[in-house]
Amino acid sequence: MSVTWDGGAPVIVDQRLLPGEVVHRRLTDAAETIEAIRTLAVRGAPAIGIAGAYGLVAALDAAGLASSSGDTLRALVGDLADRIAAARPTAVNLAHDVGRVREAALAAADRGPAAVREAALTEALAIHAADRASCAAIAHHGRMALAGRRRILTHCNTGRLATGGDGTALAVVYALHAAGELDEVLACEARPLLQGGRLTAWELVMAGVPSRVIVDGAAGAAMAAGLVEAVIVGADRIAANGDTANKIGTYALAVLARHHGIPFWVAAPWSTVDPATPDGAAIVVEERDPAEVFGYRDVRWSPAGAGAWNPAFDVTPAELITGIVTDRGTLVAPYGPGIARHARGAEDA
Ligand code: MRU
Repeated sequence: MSVTWDGGAPVIVDQRLLPGEVVHRRLTDAAETIEAIRTLAVRGAPAIGIAGAYGLVAALDAAGLASSSGDTLRALVGDLADRIAAARPTAVNLAHDVGRVREAALAAADRGPAAVREAALTEALAIHAADRASCAAIAHHGRMALAGRRRILTHCNTGRLATGGDGTALAVVYALHAAGELDEVLACEARPLLQGGRLTAWELVMAGVPSRVIVDGAAGAAMAAGLVEAVIVGADRIAANGDTANKIGTYALAVLARHHGIPFWVAAPWSTVDPATPDGAAIVVEERDPAEVFGYRDVRWSPAGAGAWNPAFDVTPAELITGIVTDRGTLVAPYGPGIARHARGAEDA
């Protein structure tokens, strides 16, 4: 739903316009792919990884590979991959998935342009298929982890719009609902770009999941009122010690959940885990245009001359996280050894 491959280019639903308008856009070269990722036309850690992977294939096509030598191909693949991978810094999925396509393409460079293109597309399709399967596995493990918790609070959008499948945290919500194990979801609106109020609310309404939107500032009151039995959120990068970057406001939810004795879960595919980043302090947090804080779309409410700080993400320390639900199973503290063990397993596989 978030990204498809139409045979020649990735096609995205422009998430900036949802839920009012459903507009599809083809990303036919590197510049269009980078712009779509930067402006959040496509967003969510797994979805930008998939869009970047397909976008690299489209970018190679647009660059015209015919009759290029191995060295020329290698230089072109490297340059395009670097540019696309740098479109947004925090979600490791983008660099990870574009890196996979880059490696596949480079390995084929001596066999000529057609082989490069085929290898790149095969890898991008595999990344997409793997994410779809990851979502299903996360839904399964997450449903077990949250068993008995019927009132869930979530943040940002982690569903079908953000991934190649049913989602991460939201896939768990869908699984609980399908099993008749859910009373209600509270969706934080996720200022400033309203991924919760616009996108999660839209997904939940379409799926018939009982839900209400709350302003981010209402989360503490909702917990105090007994409306929340578990919090589950997605992730953009999980460091080797379990510290987790996610949409701004997540850290505050984790602190509130701890104060109220409510479990706080993170759900993410293994492609969001970054064993190369030691801890949260080493995660680069994207800072975005202050204009996003001053207003929304054409409406501006802050006065001329106002300043703003607009980090897109924050880091939740591992100590506040009850468990991390991944497609490879659920991790609990201490996260370091579990992450290292799974990472070794991936290398051994
Ligand atoms: O800025 P966004 O909308 O791309 O941020 C998205 C999030 O923070 C999500 O929670 C995260 O990427 C997980 S999506 C399955």
